[in-house]
Amino acid sequence: MSGRTWGASAPAKVILLGEHAVVFGKPAVSVAIGLRLRCKIRPAAVSSLNGVPLTPQNYSYVSACLARHGAPPTAVLTDSDFPSGSGLGSSAAVTVALLAALNASKGDLKEDVVAREAFEVECEVQGRASPIDTSTCAHGNGILVQRQRGDGFLWEISMDTRRWCVHDLPVPKMTLVIGFTGKSKPTGPLVAKVKRYVDHTTFARDIVSEIGDVTMEGVKQMAQGDLEGLGRTMTKDHKLLAILGVSTRELDKMVSSVLPYSYGAKLTGAGGGGSMVALTDQPQKVMEIIKNKGGQPFAADTGVPGVRIE
Ligand code: MEV
Repeated sequence: MSGRTWGASAPAKVILLGEHAVVFGKPAVSVAIGLRLRCKIRPAAVSSLNGVPLTPQNYSYVSACLARHGAPPTAVLTDSDFPSGSGLGSSAAVTVALLAALNASKGDLKEDVVAREAFEVECEVQGRASPIDTSTCAHGNGILVQRQRGDGFLWEISMDTRRWCVHDLPVPKMTLVIGFTGKSKPTGPLVAKVKRYVDHTTFARDIVSEIGDVTMEGVKQMAQGDLEGLGRTMTKDHKLLAILGVSTRELDKMVSSVLPYSYGAKLTGAGGGGSMVALTDQPQKVMEIIKNKGGQPFAADTGVPGVRIE
């Protein structure tokens, strides 16, 4: 790290379709949005995050990134445009930005190397994961993860019987509004809960397959610029995620109240709290409703770059 400060930033992500099912190898679609997390590193007497020394009990993503790079004691400083635990990929963004800074300090930065490393760190810390969050924060723009290679292929990774091919996905011009419930739930336990459900019932396995089908329907609609169709598909996906048990009453309420002013809406990310996203042509109205329901609204720009050295 040679005594100097290194810095990188990564965007937040919004999963448009396919969360949870993607952990079972089904497809998912996600976009990077114009809210960023910035990270700086410099050598220090002890490793810390924003002045708090790292211990085995705290900041496991940060510790795992430093350990993976065999980094000397390092002070890590972050500053973010979006709340952590909001379902917008704060752990993926911190992992990607930190790994990028560590790679850059060694004189080498390749997006796909960072994306792959970040996925491995997420699996290690979270227990089970898919590459959708980390690859969106690393590559930016739109990402499609699916089992087979197609147009825009970037890289692939396999784990047991699952295989994920990561693709760059062209995103039509669209307006997204996010509503953060203000409540956070860690992703790992929600992913584990869905796994138990799927392991024990054919019904849950069928729902996961249906989410996969719905996601591919949405991919076609995106390619055709059919925002009305895409919105309907997102709402369908929300209903399937609710059946899997990852929605909450608050998320359901926020989703149903913005629907009259949106093409569609759904929870985004792991659920259990976190955020919902609406695809709309009336962003001001949707933001107002989210606020009235006690949520924190964000307007989200798409078409933004992935990880960057700052
Ligand atoms: C969380 O943002 C998305 C999940 O599908 C987990 C993952 O893909 O690693 C719930």
